[in-house]
Amino acid sequence: MAGRLVLDYNNMMAPRIGEHGLSPEALDRAAETFVGVHAEVERRRAAGQLAFFDLPYEDQLVPQIRAFADGAGQSFDTIVVLGIGGSALGTIALHQALCRPFWNELDGEAREYFPRLYVLDNVDPTTIAPLLDRLDLRRTLFNVVSKSGTTAETTAQFLIVRERLIRELGQDGYRRHLIFTTDPERGVLRRLAREEGIAALPIPPGVGGRFSVLSAVGLLPAALVGIDIEALLAGARDMDQRCRTDELAENPAGLFAALQYLAHTEKGAGIHVVMAYSDRLYACADWFRQLWAESLGKRLDTSGAVVHRGPTPVKALGATDQHSQVQLYVEGPFDKTVTFLAVDEPPVDLPIPSAYPGVDELHYLGGHTLGDLLRAERIATASALAEHGRMNMTLRLPRLDAHAVGELLMALQIATIYAGALYQVDPLDQPGVELGKVLTYGLLGRAGFEPPARSEPDARWISA
Ligand code: PA5
Repeated sequence: MAGRLVLDYNNMMAPRIGEHGLSPEALDRAAETFVGVHAEVERRRAAGQLAFFDLPYEDQLVPQIRAFADGAGQSFDTIVVLGIGGSALGTIALHQALCRPFWNELDGEAREYFPRLYVLDNVDPTTIAPLLDRLDLRRTLFNVVSKSGTTAETTAQFLIVRERLIRELGQDGYRRHLIFTTDPERGVLRRLAREEGIAALPIPPGVGGRFSVLSAVGLLPAALVGIDIEALLAGARDMDQRCRTDELAENPAGLFAALQYLAHTEKGAGIHVVMAYSDRLYACADWFRQLWAESLGKRLDTSGAVVHRGPTPVKALGATDQHSQVQLYVEGPFDKTVTFLAVDEPPVDLPIPSAYPGVDELHYLGGHTLGDLLRAERIATASALAEHGRMNMTLRLPRLDAHAVGELLMALQIATIYAGALYQVDPLDQPGVELGKVLTYGLLGRAGFEPPARSEPDARWISA
């Protein structure tokens, strides 16, 4: 396999960008600390506490998914994923990165007869109603994805879809248009799958939503739309193997985590921008935003002390956000790092015609390609940041294919676990999210749940 994911972090370092960069001594100290971090992560992994590490090595699931995708899955023109947060963002990232752009607008031949894919990821009726109205339910499969099986957004989506399916296809027919991805034992979706004979795939017990992209959560929709899930998992395995070393300089996930952590704790740069210089990787930046925020933003540290800790991830798109955000990144407060996502060999390029020989403003572009321009914009932005002493680094994918995306997603998940150890917080829990969920249950009258004590807006704060 030619080429692999590369992390270029020269522009994080003081010798390159000046006093606002990290000192080599700080990185040396981090390398010493990392030996202990790595050992602890390996210990937890061996104890079965970090189950997402095992996903790329699962040998039962891929044949199961393939059997469904190549069998019953063939009868559908459209797949709709019902889910939210970690149950949706990985699928969106895979689809955007690895399927042809404008997928749902392509005709069957251009999609090689793979189905269209929609991922709801919200409960806004102004989106969902028109989508459901225009679907041919007889040719649509709904993949209900929820680890807990109880998330209000997903169960509401499910109830609406179920009623429409029953109306259209009858009590017997509707089940064939549903497949659940959920906990193997627990939760209401698993119970319904058993009681109503609905197909269901498991999410391993120790795998939470935001670490589930390489489980059936991401793999089933990916396989259904023709993504090479074997290559995706091979990329993830390759990255995992690269991260078995405790030598920081050799461990891409370790370096990413350590650099972000040092930038935050030593330089006050707690805003971590991930800026994709590829439309097709923008949803990966969005997926990462959830992973980093929900895993590391915590009230308590691992000893139980109140710390209110965590970096703030931001997603951005190059070159678009050069005309929106980059002014702030280059000249605003020294509170950010910027990580560029770049692809060495874009899958498609477009030459810019040579024209207007006498007009300098136009003529210089001739003979270049849009890929050249995008690359030049990225290098120019990185240089502008560096010249102003702003820490930035680049994650470079050799190509935009399933193997490389598997490497990227695995690297960022492992980095999140290392970062959890560095920040000394539990990267696997999300008590803030759970609180919002139970208060929603209370507001909607679910038995056993109370609405928030302060749920009504206070009239004093609303001006006329
Ligand atoms: O990453 C997480 O744990 C969350 O974002 C969940 O994925 C999200 O809240 C949806 O939960 P569930 O999959 O249980 O419906």
